[in-house]
Amino acid sequence: MKIGTGKSYAKIILIGEHAVVYGEPAIALPVKSIRLSAKVEPIPDGRQEVTSAFFTGDLNAGQLTNFAGIAMLIRRLLVFFNAADQGFHLTITSALPSERGMGSSAATAVAVVRAFYDAFQTSLSHSVLLNWAGISEKALHGNPSGLDAATASAEKPQWFVRGKSLRSIMMPRNGVLLIADTGIAGQTKIAVDQVAQKLKKDPKTYQPLITDIGDAVRQAALALAQDDIITLGQLLNRDQADLAALGVSSPELDRLINVALDNGAYGAKLTGSGMGGCMIALAAADQAPAIIQALKVANAVKVWEYHFETK
Ligand code: MEV
Repeated sequence: MKIGTGKSYAKIILIGEHAVVYGEPAIALPVKSIRLSAKVEPIPDGRQEVTSAFFTGDLNAGQLTNFAGIAMLIRRLLVFFNAADQGFHLTITSALPSERGMGSSAATAVAVVRAFYDAFQTSLSHSVLLNWAGISEKALHGNPSGLDAATASAEKPQWFVRGKSLRSIMMPRNGVLLIADTGIAGQTKIAVDQVAQKLKKDPKTYQPLITDIGDAVRQAALALAQDDIITLGQLLNRDQADLAALGVSSPELDRLINVALDNGAYGAKLTGSGMGGCMIALAAADQAPAIIQALKVANAVKVWEYHFETK
């Protein structure tokens, strides 16, 4: 084993979260300015320890909920590399906030897998990477679609259908995406479980929302192909209405969404699993400063400005 490094990005779901769990498409983008990196270094005395932005500790203690999935992933990686007793120190450095819908758990898994493959000097295909990331994502979230890890490991915005399709998709030539943090934690497992229960109990009410989200995503792909940012904004609003009806929005998300719309955004919605976390607003570049200011006045903990990559 040598020193190994791996990186990943924050992910933002433009449209399609939750319905993607049930086979509908989603569109998501890696935010390359918000990144996470992992560095694993061999140490001689057999200690196996992790220092990170999210959790710190002995690999084999694994008592913290967030740590358990990553600890299991690392143990399996070590077995795979025939190095179960290898001492190491893993450092995870992250600009992603945790539990804010930016995919911090998937980004951690992706960077950790890349770092261990690098440390054991083994080449890693994208599909094998996603299989590994699925181990900790399942432990943490129960029924992950795989979208978060697929996006955290991608270099370009992605069109994703669970188990079926993953390909790059063009973003608008104009406009910016503003990402604002409510400062409130939203736990993916709780939100995904809650939607599953609603679908089971009352499919007549909730299944049409899932179907409508899928429909909005397909229309969003068309709007993107036509570089029609106004229609795209309307589709984000439609998606938000469906997500709110599914019960995964929150008063804080609704407030920031309304502030963005009142200040001229084309569309705004929650991003990720919701019930807290971040919202996004699609806006004209010259409208962005006023919206950012208004989001800050409305108590957004942090606002990021994301410029679409058009190549
Ligand atoms: C979470 O970032 C996205 C969800 O759609 C869950 C998933 O896709 O696994 C809510």
